[in-house]
Amino acid sequence: MIIPGAATQAFAAALSAAADEPLGRVEYEQFPDGEGVVRVPERVAGERAVVVASTVDSDAHVQVLQLQDAVREAGASEVVTVLPYMGYARQDEAFRAGEPVSSRAMARAISSGTDRVITVNPHEPAVCDFFDVPADYVDAAGVLADPLPADLSEPLFLSPDEGAIDLARTVRDAYGAGETDHFVKDRDYDTGEIAISPNDASVEGRDVVLTDDIIATGSTMSESIEVLNDRGTNRVFVTCVHPMLASNALTKLSAAGVDAVYGTDTLERAVSEVSAAPVVAREL
Ligand code: R5P
Repeated sequence: MIIPGAATQAFAAALSAAADEPLGRVEYEQFPDGEGVVRVPERVAGERAVVVASTVDSDAHVQVLQLQDAVREAGASEVVTVLPYMGYARQDEAFRAGEPVSSRAMARAISSGTDRVITVNPHEPAVCDFFDVPADYVDAAGVLADPLPADLSEPLFLSPDEGAIDLARTVRDAYGAGETDHFVKDRDYDTGEIAISPNDASVEGRDVVLTDDIIATGSTMSESIEVLNDRGTNRVFVTCVHPMLASNALTKLSAAGVDAVYGTDTLERAVSEVSAAPVVAREL
């Protein structure tokens, strides 16, 4: 049975349909002091329970632990935890003295209530090693080709840094035509400022599809769009697996001149045009 977290209900419904596994009805409540509680009225005794929750914020993290505990308490024979978006995954090392490896801390906590973990396009695959139970990830980037126009002109699939070039290749392969390349990105960790260095790829008059694993503040993508527009690109489409789009990120992309933004439903946003659930269903 699929057991959804409050912030991941649409993805859970899509996963239920794709995996042909029933969708449990969960109740979410909050006490006056701000603490949350979940209730799983469905019968899961002797069954596999699949907790599906993107840990999009601290409350969602706590809720995963509560859902795992609730289904164990109800007698589930196996608990699988699906994290369509794994929060804190980008904090995969102690970047400054005195800092934690936050993704490891989160992984350890999540491991305590599950037999297995599946996540989607973590920033670094090595984050799966932080779990104390078997943990795997799936690559859902291919579905990002689906909403792209069929008439892209001399398409170039571009990542804003070298680390995301495989995602750009995956989207290009799924689209079935075009070239791939990457920019070079430098981030000042004190100021948070991004500097995008263009390469010598010819972009004039072409349609460019920018691809990354996540759009958080939108700085990486908006800087990339501005570089492309300065160089005479035709249309610019932005695609990402995890459309976090914190604060004014979408406005930044619009102001930079993006033609369209497409993301998956690992995070449920207005730009979540395609579902990563069928890819996860194959791994269940
Ligand atoms: C980092 O390397 C990631 O792949 C993304 O490029 C980054 O996290 C995006 O962050 P933002 O939208 O804040 O620039």
